[in-house]
Amino acid sequence: MTATDPPVFEFDHLSPQYAAEPMAVNRAMREQCPVVWTEAHSGFWVTATYAETFAAGRDPATYSSKKGRHAGLDHTGVVIPALPSMHLLPVEVDPPELRAYRKVMNPAFSPQAVARLLPDVERFTTWCVDQVIASGAIDFVDDLATPVPAMTTLLIVGLPPEDWPQHAKAFHGLVSHVPGTPGHDEAITAIAAIDRSVFDEIADRRAHPRDDLLTMLTQADIDGRPLTDEEVAAIVATTLGGGVDTTTALLANAFSYLGEHPEHRDRIAEDDAYLNSFCEEMLRYYSPVQGFARTVTEDTDLGGCPLGRGDRIFLNWSAANHDPAEFARPEEVVPDRSPNRHAAFGIGPHRCIGAPVARAEFGIVVREVLRRMPDYTLAPGAEHYTNIGTVNGWHHLPARFTPGSPVGGAA
Ligand code: HEM
Repeated sequence: MTATDPPVFEFDHLSPQYAAEPMAVNRAMREQCPVVWTEAHSGFWVTATYAETFAAGRDPATYSSKKGRHAGLDHTGVVIPALPSMHLLPVEVDPPELRAYRKVMNPAFSPQAVARLLPDVERFTTWCVDQVIASGAIDFVDDLATPVPAMTTLLIVGLPPEDWPQHAKAFHGLVSHVPGTPGHDEAITAIAAIDRSVFDEIADRRAHPRDDLLTMLTQADIDGRPLTDEEVAAIVATTLGGGVDTTTALLANAFSYLGEHPEHRDRIAEDDAYLNSFCEEMLRYYSPVQGFARTVTEDTDLGGCPLGRGDRIFLNWSAANHDPAEFARPEEVVPDRSPNRHAAFGIGPHRCIGAPVARAEFGIVVREVLRRMPDYTLAPGAEHYTNIGTVNGWHHLPARFTPGSPVGGAA
């Protein structure tokens, strides 16, 4: 760090203190300075406002997502502290390289592709609700918000949806445990095993093409050359990581909110426009992904702070999402908020490619719950993550409701 007298603020996105009161921490930080320096994890900058998060997110030449050594500088990717994982694609490259990878991925996330997915998401959702409907009890996390996004992501990639428990457990462990703890180490080992098995799938798709992302990637080329197995595996790894626990957190937070505020349920169930704006507000308010890091590539100024070449910076989507300069009543849920230009899917060229999938899952799952267990009440045993620095999610969210009958059908 090259700055003199930086505005120091005690911020650690992985700490239990942050998990307990993220909005209060971000508010205090924002009131001090638009960009602060924290000594946590060997030191990094943090954006505290919408404008600075937006400016940095849109400037990948200065705020790089890359990993590895480039132009004489060590880049450490998009997470703090850096993970000993493979080089994740496309999340750990910058434009123009990024554009080529996004182009080969786009067909799997197009409006047509998402429309084709809907019957499967509905089938997964119905099946999950069928498993619990007669009992009158559900854990929203274990029984619904985890399996549906995990099965959907596996289906997109081309892996068996029934393998969802293995994937969900690994990614749940990765994001909910702090790096360096046994739970996190176990998750890293499980993900490494998944990554290795993906290479067998790549070989299979090169020989036997199917209708899935794996096949699409094995058949794609960039600048006239096919993607290597390593590149395909790195894209699959990011897609699995991006799709599995994030939408889980969004759904669990929504069911928690609707548990506390049942007065919104009828309108959400009946009015699609209201359901859609409620989804955007849940994304803004809870910010399922709190932030991602960048490496500063040259000495620069952000919000009056002198950032040095090689510094790390955390783009704090969550702080941006509660900035009063951008949102009226930022710390309140306003289900029909409009406009709602939240940063929950990121800002700039890496903006989430899976956003349409997440929104589709949200609509289907929330509608199904409000139709089949409309009177649910939250039950004891709720357990929130004590580390929300990556994903702001829940371990458990139990509820009770008037029992009903399964409608049948396979997952
Ligand atoms: C509520 C759900 C979700 C949230 C909050 C979320 C959030 C994000 C954010 C903030 C980024 C930007 C990363 C950056 O700027 O460095 C991102 C990228 C990404 N997301 Fe999502 N995501 C969600 C769902 C999904 C789903 C369902 C998928 C796939 C099935 C997915 C796949 C990806 C991928 C592949 C990227 C990397 C894009 C790139 O680097 O260009 N995400 N996501």
